[in-house]
Amino acid sequence: MKLSDRVLGMQESPVRKLVPIATAEKKKGKKVYHLNIGQPDIETPKVFMDAINNYDTSVIKYSFSQGEPILIDAIIDYYKRDGMSFEEDNILITNGGSEALTFTTIATCNPGDEILIPEPFYTNYNGFTSAVNVNLVPITTKAEDGFHLPKEEDIVKLITPKTKAILFSNPGNPTGTILTKVEMDMIKRIAIEHDLFIISDEVYRKMAFDGLKSYSMGELDGIDDRLIIIDSVSKRFSACGARIGAIISKNKSFTQNVLKLCQARLCVATLEQIGAAALYNMPSGYADEIKDIYEERRNIVYNTLKEIPGVVCEKPQGAFYVVAKLPVENAEDFCVWLLKDYDLNGETVMLAPAEGFYSTKGLGKDEVRIAYVLETEEMKKAMHILRKALETYQK
Ligand SMILES: Cc1ncc(COP(=O)(O)O)c(C=O)c1O
Repeated sequence: MKLSDRVLGMQESPVRKLVPIATAEKKKGKKVYHLNIGQPDIETPKVFMDAINNYDTSVIKYSFSQGEPILIDAIIDYYKRDGMSFEEDNILITNGGSEALTFTTIATCNPGDEILIPEPFYTNYNGFTSAVNVNLVPITTKAEDGFHLPKEEDIVKLITPKTKAILFSNPGNPTGTILTKVEMDMIKRIAIEHDLFIISDEVYRKMAFDGLKSYSMGELDGIDDRLIIIDSVSKRFSACGARIGAIISKNKSFTQNVLKLCQARLCVATLEQIGAAALYNMPSGYADEIKDIYEERRNIVYNTLKEIPGVVCEKPQGAFYVVAKLPVENAEDFCVWLLKDYDLNGETVMLAPAEGFYSTKGLGKDEVRIAYVLETEEMKKAMHILRKALETYQK
């Protein structure tokens, strides 16, 4: 018996593939600082569990396929507070942003179709698309340009009759780059001119540093029929395990058809939706508190990286990641060595090799993605270990 080419062709997650090595080393007593995965250590706001504990029911029933009305209303209010207006039938609750992206790909593309995507990109976009035989076409961005988009004509050149959409995460994972208003207008122009869907992954929205604002594509006029926003409580509210996300779009034909996919998987977990509604209902000051915490961590990571000879990186503007070029030939070998063969007083760090965040062969080979998801003292220790490890490795 042979498994499908589809599943055999999928790449392993570069974020998780070194986990077995880390687990083995931890069993031997080594402490591993996890900077490989976007799992924040920040407490999930108490309102999440309070809402679940206060939910009065004797049977945990199936929820509606579209989602719990209380959560849909909370999302509508949340966007209203940011100056955007959506209605109930514009919103579909999903199992995290991940399912939102999978359903969006299935609903917008046929097998063989293409989606434009700035690279480096969130590595699981590979999985969501290759599982349904959709091809990602990279728009290569460079560290020296702060991972901002190239010129309009360079993007337009990549469009073929098979191109159906442009997908991007803003703020960016893994780059931490925030699209400027000019870039957002360019995306809008290209999408209208070439009749493309805009899939705007905004799971890190509001995590913007240095006084920058990360706009939502929902704030732009004239793209209601083609805009699909991907949302999630995972990062913004530090609730990754809740698995609550959303598809937000004013294109009625799109949402009505995605609802069929929602119906096929019945519903999203009822209790977590109740908790998530309380998260979206929190006062907006929460977002500022979280942003300040990550900004402090960003400064620790960036300032240390700048001091290490041979390391090249741009200051990330948002989210909680940075891509750094290291003075090594092969970053994956270095990451494995860090786990297996290195420790500083019994401690080491785990990073994500960045090659898997690119689809152009050969790019990212000497780069890693660092997720600054630990509290400041731990972050300082982890970065000290990385600095010492690089010195040893180069010897
Ligand atoms: C850019 C981006 N989009 C979507 C997701 C999926 O998040 P979730 O399924 O937890 O909502 C992630 C997770 O790391 C991400 O970084």
